[in-house]
Amino acid sequence: MKRDPSAPHPLRAGDPAGLNVAVIGGTGGIGRAISRSLAARGANVLVAGRTFRDADVPGIEFRPADLSLMREAERIAHELPAETLDLLIFTTGILAAPKRRVTAEGIEEDTAVSYLSRLVILRAIADRLGTGRDQRPRAFVMGFPGNGQVGTLGDLNAERTYRNMAVHMNTVAGNESLALDAAKRYPRLDVFGLNPGFVKSEIRGNLFGPGTLRHRLFEGALGLVTTSTDRYAQRITPILTSPDLATRSGAMIDRKGAVIHPTPGLTDARVAEFLNESTALIARAGVTVPPK
Ligand SMILES: NC(=O)c1ccc[n+]([C@@H]2O[C@H](COP(=O)([O-])OP(=O)(O)OC[C@H]3O[C@@H](n4cnc5c(N)ncnc54)[C@H](OP(=O)(O)O)[C@@H]3O)[C@@H](O)[C@H]2O)c1
Repeated sequence: MKRDPSAPHPLRAGDPAGLNVAVIGGTGGIGRAISRSLAARGANVLVAGRTFRDADVPGIEFRPADLSLMREAERIAHELPAETLDLLIFTTGILAAPKRRVTAEGIEEDTAVSYLSRLVILRAIADRLGTGRDQRPRAFVMGFPGNGQVGTLGDLNAERTYRNMAVHMNTVAGNESLALDAAKRYPRLDVFGLNPGFVKSEIRGNLFGPGTLRHRLFEGALGLVTTSTDRYAQRITPILTSPDLATRSGAMIDRKGAVIHPTPGLTDARVAEFLNESTALIARAGVTVPPK
């Protein structure tokens, strides 16, 4: 959608029309619902993922990427039109499987998809993000921030011990660390953590087997007490584009759009330790994460 050059930038007006957005993980689940919601309000949305489901939706463009691979994350980062982006939103996610699974690069799958691919992409494009726009760009890292998870370091790839929920909690701590670190590392950007609470989606497929009766029954029961992806997206879309966020970089945002406290144990030292071990693991896949 063409923007009237004399109109205030959409992030100053709190209006998504004309915003340029990339949703990494925007092909399914919560990311897809947010992408559709933003596109319906006139944003230009680029989604990255494996399976495009919105070819018929005006305003949504697709970039295929298997983000279990660090080299794919690096490739897509270089392909993104970072300079013209206003919002960068990370929503890729899986849950660690009952038995440890590794990617072709030898990285535990949940750690790779739900966390490390985001670190690769954000670090690769942060310097270019929004440089061609006249408003501070925003990055949103979805996970479960503010929940007290500080992770377990020393075996991030779960090679010595594998417990699927402990591995997933490492991705939770990793994503909150990523948001906290980026808010300080990139003063030119506004960076936020997003905690959607429990939302009925496909993310628990790995626990039961996607589409199995147990999975459908569980999500059906969860649907009685939790919200749908569309309802969450309707609620969060005005927050993502609100002028009120302009002075809140580093904040964590809960399912209702309220600012919540970050996890107290994620001190600067802990965050640095977390990211150092993460970049070392990514390096094993032959990908170097730029320090800045
Ligand atoms: N749902 C909840 O209750 C809940 C609660 C707390 C936090 N969260 C967080 O919310 C975020 C979104 O979760 P969700 O519930 O929307 O999950 P979901 O329905 O399973 O969607 C996951 C998304 O990740 C993408 N994805 C998965 N594997 C990928 C791969 N190898 N390469 C590229 N993309 C891949 C999927 O795209 P394709 O289908 O194209 O592969 C899809 O877009 C995650 O960060 C999750 O931790 C969710």
